[in-house]
Amino acid sequence: MTTTYLPPDAAATTLRTHTCGQLRIADVGKKVTLTGWVQTHRDKGFFNFLVLRDRHGLTQVTFRKDQNAELFEASLKLGREYVVRVSGTVVERESKNPKMPTGDVEIDPETLEILNPAQLPPFLIEDQTDGGEELRLKYRYLDLRRPVMTQNLVLRAQVVKAVREYLDAAGFLEIETPNLIKTTPEGARDFIVPSRLQPGNFYALPQSPQLLKQLLMVGGIDRYYQICKCFRDEDFRGDRQPEFTQIDCEMSFVTQQDILTMFDGMVRYVFKAVKNIDLPLLPRITYDEAVRKYGSDKPDLRFGMPLVELNDVVKTIAFPAFEQTLAEGGLVIGLNAESCGAYTRKQIDELTEFVKAPHRGCKGLVAIKVADDGTCKSSIDKFCSSEQYDNIKNALGAKPGDLMLILSAPTAKARKSGGDLRLEIARRQQLIDPDAWSVFYVVDFPLFERDEDTGAFMPAHHPFVMPHPEDWHWLESDPGRVRALCYDMVMNGNEIMSGSIRIHRADLQDRIFGLLGMSETEKQEKFGFLLKAFEFGAPPHGGCALGLDRWVMLLAGGETIRDVIAFPKNSAGRDLMLDAPAPVDPDALETVGIQLRHP
Ligand code: AMO
Repeated sequence: MTTTYLPPDAAATTLRTHTCGQLRIADVGKKVTLTGWVQTHRDKGFFNFLVLRDRHGLTQVTFRKDQNAELFEASLKLGREYVVRVSGTVVERESKNPKMPTGDVEIDPETLEILNPAQLPPFLIEDQTDGGEELRLKYRYLDLRRPVMTQNLVLRAQVVKAVREYLDAAGFLEIETPNLIKTTPEGARDFIVPSRLQPGNFYALPQSPQLLKQLLMVGGIDRYYQICKCFRDEDFRGDRQPEFTQIDCEMSFVTQQDILTMFDGMVRYVFKAVKNIDLPLLPRITYDEAVRKYGSDKPDLRFGMPLVELNDVVKTIAFPAFEQTLAEGGLVIGLNAESCGAYTRKQIDELTEFVKAPHRGCKGLVAIKVADDGTCKSSIDKFCSSEQYDNIKNALGAKPGDLMLILSAPTAKARKSGGDLRLEIARRQQLIDPDAWSVFYVVDFPLFERDEDTGAFMPAHHPFVMPHPEDWHWLESDPGRVRALCYDMVMNGNEIMSGSIRIHRADLQDRIFGLLGMSETEKQEKFGFLLKAFEFGAPPHGGCALGLDRWVMLLAGGETIRDVIAFPKNSAGRDLMLDAPAPVDPDALETVGIQLRHP
């Protein structure tokens, strides 16, 4: 006989028989005990309707004065968020509430016990709360009681469970890597931790387990994953936290195609498991196409409105801004804002200011309205013949009633501004169906990008990415042209995953470090262990990491990853609940060999 080990009844404990989300019409007549928080109670003179909440749901308990005056009086003394325990009988409700899963029944109480009284919470513990974000972060444990927040954490746990199921079925081993390590360059600053035993020396918290997972491959692990914390000291954005979670994966003896197929499968498995959504096989577009057509390496493809390069089309137009851009080797880009021909002067001025914002840096925007008879009207009328207008119209596919928007700038700025403008028009015109999903891969990224300040080449992703074998001969002569075996996954306009095939040979890795301007000493100091490991038979390998917080945020329909992280930091990187970071005792600093310099 085989023994099976199962957990005890999921809901019942010594203190309760059911959760607040459990009771249904079939339970009528049962004697039950519920525990939870007082959501509300409404005194109607002879009745007091108490709504009890736990993370599973809400259940109504009705105290009746004529049935038990003492219990009724006791129930009137309850405050919001008191923790209570109620025993009684499940009865059918007279007026049912179809919006509540437990809305067919209520509890006819026999006993009421206050397990813990509570202060009045500083904001409403309901989905629609009156609390601002800072207040909710300070009292995060109260915020988490709001059903919408609880649901986000449930969803997160479901995603993690489905990820584990899939990767386990694919033969991946879940392995932990250390957090007290040496720098792992991912483009951000490290958080550093002083060492007490070696004063003056510091650990770095991992920006990712990148190097360790590669060393696991050298260790023969073959398929690894880890749902791990990463730490990056970088500027804040709604989709960034200094401490966030990756689903980090690595595989040996694979090509890029193997990895794309594996994680295409994983993402579709999770969508089906947690949302019952069948995503199609993920399409692929090249980096080049993404930036040319959509002005971004993470375009939102839930709507069209591609950018069109107009250098050839406008070269005969003597408009000085276009002429200057063309002479300087820049780009004239247009897009067709369908049905926006009635935009007012004010709206067009707003769009002009939008592209002129300092971080976009365009000098202006030409807005051409296409009238009902097909004629065009714009601020550059005096430079444009009707034939020239027709050429632009044909290039952009514009129809009567449309608004053609054209900007010109140095290439990178023009693309970025065009991409941002495309999103802005989509926002204004509500072109994005909130229920639609656009999930695809971007492939063929460049290996290097130029540092804007110094002009030097930097790794576009990280320095361990395999250059595309067809482009190796350009490594020294034309590094900007070298493509990488590197890919991203984009979900509704968000970078959700990044990965690459890695360099696995010491000589090539050494060559890349050299190209990045590292001296022999620097190579050895920073990455000597990696170069050494590659000399001991490193297998060809590659992998990726998915941003769990971003993915769950999108699945939850949220706007910031703070909504799907139990205890996030605020926009200044502070934990308002714990009040961290905080000064430490000078003795503690001395122990680790640090002296603070006071101005
Ligand atoms: P990368 O740096 O692109 O790649 O990170 C992978 C994914 O992690 C998420 N992400 C973040 N999420 C929240 N806050 C942040 N500060 C943050 N930074 C990144 C994104 C991103 O796509 N080692 C490589 C992966 C690899 O090559 O295997 C890496 O870390 O969703």
